[in-house]
Amino acid sequence: MPRVAVIVGSLRKNAYSRLVSRVLIASAPDHINMKLVEIGQLPFYNQDLEEAQPPEPWLAFRHTIKAVDAVLFVTPEYNRSMPAALKNAIDVGSRPRGQNIWSEKAAGVVSVSPGAIGGFGANNHLRQSLMAVNMPTLQHPEAYIGGVAPFFDSNGELINDDTRAFLKLFMDTFATWIDTVRKK
Ligand code: FNR
Repeated sequence: MPRVAVIVGSLRKNAYSRLVSRVLIASAPDHINMKLVEIGQLPFYNQDLEEAQPPEPWLAFRHTIKAVDAVLFVTPEYNRSMPAALKNAIDVGSRPRGQNIWSEKAAGVVSVSPGAIGGFGANNHLRQSLMAVNMPTLQHPEAYIGGVAPFFDSNGELINDDTRAFLKLFMDTFATWIDTVRKK
């Protein structure tokens, strides 16, 4: 059974990206084991800390990601890029040199925004970093969830059927991609 870490780029409790991640988890095929992995507790990457005693949250995070087969990133866009917390998590996982825990794990990217262009900048900057850490990343369908605010009701329930269908299609395709990458 493939294990998939779901990483949400927003630290905000009521984040739209977190709501979308819940729908993605619920839409996953039964044979996929999805779990949310938090990133807000990770101290900023600083190589000096690596050389002395790496912070415990870094070690725990690396241990968690090492154990999964794939990672699904669900992120908002900050200033046309990914939030710093998400970039930091990628940096933490990529070091120390030679021990990059992301390498060769399948990745998927979903960007989420109340704005019209659906976090395009975040989505594509994130893809650039995933290339650097050697994650084979699902190309299609691209997932830019724009204009997201009215898709959820006040209880955080998705009320847009087209979006639900698209997220299901995305998860089915991502599940196939995970199998393809694992067989290589
Ligand atoms: C934003 N927001 C934003 N939205 C967007 O579509 N493109 C952008 O470049 C930015 N830039 C930006 C910078 C910063 C610092 C913040 C705090 C916000 C708005 C953003 O999409 C909105 O706050 C979302 O609700 C954040 O996502 P979550 O937390 O709801 O997942």
